[in-house]
Amino acid sequence: MVNRNINLKDKSAGNQFTGKFIVLDGPDGCGKSTQTKLLTQWLEQQGVETETFRDPGTTAIGEKIRQILLNPEHIAMSTRTELLLYMAARAQLWQEKIAPALNKNKCVILDRWLSSTCAYQGYAGGFGIEKVINIAQDCLERCWPDLTIILDVDLAAAASRLNRQLDRMEQKGDSYHQKVREGFLQLAGKQKNFAVVDATKDIETVHRKIVELISG
Ligand code: TMP
Repeated sequence: MVNRNINLKDKSAGNQFTGKFIVLDGPDGCGKSTQTKLLTQWLEQQGVETETFRDPGTTAIGEKIRQILLNPEHIAMSTRTELLLYMAARAQLWQEKIAPALNKNKCVILDRWLSSTCAYQGYAGGFGIEKVINIAQDCLERCWPDLTIILDVDLAAAASRLNRQLDRMEQKGDSYHQKVREGFLQLAGKQKNFAVVDATKDIETVHRKIVELISG
C-alpha cells in the first residue's frame, strides 16, 4: 500500500472528517461502488454527516451526460469528446452537490473523479495526463480531493467481477484497460494525497484497509 502525504490527520478542528472530500477510484471491476457504500456506512456509524455521489452522474444533467458517454451505440465518440463530457458532468456535480455539502461541513465521498479522466482519457486514450490536468484547472473550481484512494486490480480479477452487460467504456479492449490501470498507478505515484490499496483482496479486507487509511 502506498500512502503519501495524506492530510486527513489534522484533528484540531473537531472531527477529522468534517468538510473533507474523499474519492474512491480505480479500473472497472475494482469494487469501488461496494467500497464507497461500506465507507459511507462506516462514517455514518462514527457520527459523521456524509454525502456520497457518483461521477459522472448524480445530478439530472450529469445522469444524461452519463447515458451519452456509456451508450454502446456511440462507438464514434472520440477521446476529446469523452474528456469534455466527463468534465462537464463534473462541473455540474461540483456546483449542485459537492460545494453545498462541503460548505455545510459534511464529509463528501465520491465514486470516481478527475483521477479517472487522467487514467482513461489522459493515459489509456493517449490525450496526456498533464493536458487533462491543465484543462481541469481551467474549468473546475477544485481539482484535487483531500484524499484519493485508488483500488488497484489486475485485468483478470477485474474481469471476473464484471459479469453483466458491458457499457461503452468497459467494452474497450484489454490493452486499453491495462493502460487504465497503469495510468492510475502513475498518477498515484506523482500526485499528493493519493493512496493505492490492493483491491484483489476480499471485500472486508479492502474495507478495513480503507478505514485504516482514512483514520490515520
Ligand atoms: P462507473 O461505472 O464506475 O461509474 O464509471 C463509468 C465509466 O466511465 C467507467 O468505465 C470509467 C469511465 N470514466 C472515464 O472514462 N473517465 C472519467 O473521467 C470517469 C469519471 C469515468
